[in-house]
Amino acid sequence: MVDVILGLQWGDEGKGKIVDYFANDYDVIARFQGGPNAGHTLYVDGKKIVLHQIPSGIFHENKTNLIGNGVVLDPVILKKECDNVSAFGVNYKKNLFISERTHLILPTHRAIDRASELSKGIEKIGSTLKGIGPAYMDKTGRNGLRVGNLLDKSFTTEYIKLRLKHQKLLDSFNFNEDISGWEEEFFDAVEFLRGFNIVNGEYFINEKIREGQRVLAEGAQGSMLDVDFGTFPFVTSSSTISAGVCTGLGVAPQKIREVFGVSKAYCTRVGSGPFPTELNDETGELIRNTGHEFGSTTGRPRRCGWIDGVALQYACMINGVTQIIMTKADILDNLAELKVCNGYNINGEEKNIVPFQMNRVNIEPVYKTFPGWQEDITAITQYQDLPEAMKNYISYLNGYLGVPVKYISNGPGRDQIVVA
Ligand code: GDP
Ligand code: IMO
Ligand code: MG
Repeated sequence: MVDVILGLQWGDEGKGKIVDYFANDYDVIARFQGGPNAGHTLYVDGKKIVLHQIPSGIFHENKTNLIGNGVVLDPVILKKECDNVSAFGVNYKKNLFISERTHLILPTHRAIDRASELSKGIEKIGSTLKGIGPAYMDKTGRNGLRVGNLLDKSFTTEYIKLRLKHQKLLDSFNFNEDISGWEEEFFDAVEFLRGFNIVNGEYFINEKIREGQRVLAEGAQGSMLDVDFGTFPFVTSSSTISAGVCTGLGVAPQKIREVFGVSKAYCTRVGSGPFPTELNDETGELIRNTGHEFGSTTGRPRRCGWIDGVALQYACMINGVTQIIMTKADILDNLAELKVCNGYNINGEEKNIVPFQMNRVNIEPVYKTFPGWQEDITAITQYQDLPEAMKNYISYLNGYLGVPVKYISNGPGRDQIVVA
């Protein structure tokens, strides 16, 4: 049996905290896509830690954590992350496994990401510059190197061959930064990775499922950043939706049970691209400051706005979401009123569908306004104690989305969560 936790918006919904909260109930926690573009924040013993590639179950003893084949892995970043979690007493040598089919992010992938972004004008994606796009391009282009290849004698030769191809591409961008330092670091991290638990991920996970173990698949990014269904081309390069679990881990669709969709009580986006409910005003600024909305991976300020019901409904549909987890509800504590976008006005016509190219049409969001609760909710532990105004807000969303909000997160702490 596999349950999934994934983001319904443009990432940073608080997936890390939620996975950490739910991890107790599972035996295996597995990442199925994305790479170090992700930044999942957890509080362990009151201390903040940001994970990029290691699944957010790592701080629970005796849980298996798997980096699945759908992930693109940067060994240099993994080595740093391992050092970080070790400082918390985590024995990653025992609890962390990597699929041999996982593709590697090479130093040249990072260089190509940079060169490609630098070459663009206003059409910049706002990539995290971690080499994600180029690594997935080499995967689908059938050139990439995989974690299993580290054990081949010919690994260095294969690397050099690929590097020559990449150099041609870099030359075409006139990119001439020296990346030899990155390569040195890379080969150092490759040695480290060779000593890891490298497994055949698909047999590994299916064996666990057969034994009756419970698997939690941890999404990165969000549904609106999905390469197929997101706001293309302002998206990431992987399948961030529930279907990605099957290809990213090698599990069959009928093994998937619950799909927990995580959404903030408002909405944020980092990087470029359309964002119909964005607030370029004092309220947006207030949400950013109260919510500490600055990127966990890049430190960039996140764009903030009202919750987008149209996009959420779409995300629930393509993911088959069974329960919604609403995070950062406490950030709205001081607002006198809040809004839910329940329609898009496009050329004078009101619709509630996500258009083909959001960036090519002018969307005027249609809002329903709600009174704020103006009360500190961070210490509340029971649903019945939440303010009436908040219950109304949630109840409206339940009806509009047709999927219930079952959990409300009211602070960054491990235990700050209310069950509806
Ligand atoms: P992720 O990428 O989806 O894991 O989310 P991030 O870690 O990038 O961003 C979420 C941020 O919100 C982190 O700093 C979390 O500690 C914080 N956070 C998560 N849930 C809550 C919540 O309910 N309330 C508050 N105030 N902060 C939260
Ligand atoms: P988590 O898992 C928010 C965004 C980038 C950029 C676009 C493409 O923490 O929610 P990429 O580096 O993938 O080529 O960037 O996607 N992006 C994220 N935004 N949270 C993330 O991950 C993101 N990962 C990528 O800002 O707009
Ligand atoms: Mg994040």
